[in-house]
Amino acid sequence: MRNKVTKAIFPVAGLGTRFLPATKSVPKEIMTLVDRPLIQYAIDEARAAGIKEFIFVTSRGKGALEDYFDHSPQLENELRKKGKDDLLEILKSTNMDSGAIAYMRQHKALGLGHAVWCARRLIGNEPFAVILPDDVIAAEKPCLQQMVEAYEETGGNMVAAMEVPPEKASSYGVLDVQEDMGSMVSVKGMVEKPAPGTEPSNLAVIGRYILSPYVLKNLNKIKSGAGGEIQLTDAIAQEIGSDRGVYGYRFRGQRFDCGSKSGFLQATVAFGLSRDDLRDDLHGYLTGIMAAERAAQ
Ligand code: UTP
Repeated sequence: MRNKVTKAIFPVAGLGTRFLPATKSVPKEIMTLVDRPLIQYAIDEARAAGIKEFIFVTSRGKGALEDYFDHSPQLENELRKKGKDDLLEILKSTNMDSGAIAYMRQHKALGLGHAVWCARRLIGNEPFAVILPDDVIAAEKPCLQQMVEAYEETGGNMVAAMEVPPEKASSYGVLDVQEDMGSMVSVKGMVEKPAPGTEPSNLAVIGRYILSPYVLKNLNKIKSGAGGEIQLTDAIAQEIGSDRGVYGYRFRGQRFDCGSKSGFLQATVAFGLSRDDLRDDLHGYLTGIMAAERAAQ
């Protein structure tokens, strides 16, 4: 029997420099798409995939994240007194069971690989998921749930993969594909941010992973060797050729890069248009400005 994936790491210790000055005092993961912070989308996706333990790798200035998942007795009492049951219900999704959430500090922003490595003692010897909250994925079946179901068949290591145009490949980790099986590919190599024109395929790695604990052992070695950023991609690539192997999973859904301003704005519009309470207003506004723009040309 394969071990179930019940733990997820949320690396949220990055500096978020692309959103300065906002991120000087507000963690990027607390920024909201419509009325829910990015981190809430990530947590909901993890819950849907059967995750029971949520491990945040944080850094200085991320206190708002811890507060967000705390109970807020005063606010809840006020809402109860006023009979605002609908709002109380909304707040429920932000409450975590006691002991289900853990915070680990990454003292220096040494890269995503290092952030994941910081959580190694909480993972132990089990497979685990990694979710990057700035990759928001709109999907009928949440992306991590799709991956967990596929992982139950394959085991090993699995990364979410998405086709990107060649000129964009140099911004991602890119897969070198051994065998293409449709929704899944087996991987014979991985290159982090390949120089333009050298990308081995158009399949880019997106911020969802299911990893074997051996990846943490690989990070151990990289950690003691490398000086600059410690890349998660390198530690996963070391699993290629092991009994476990590495797979890319072509998820069904639309991914928004909410770590970039343009991606964040696109996600805001898309999530706004998907809401019954906002669609008509927003749609009217957007068609109005598009028409005005066309008329001005
Ligand atoms: P990014 O590459 O988006 O970096 O990190 P960033 O610092 O968040 O944002 P910019 O580029 O300065 O605007 C991808 C993910 O890895 C985490 C980030 O929090 C984000 O979820 N990360 C990155 C860490 O936890 N620690 C690191 O040292 C680096």
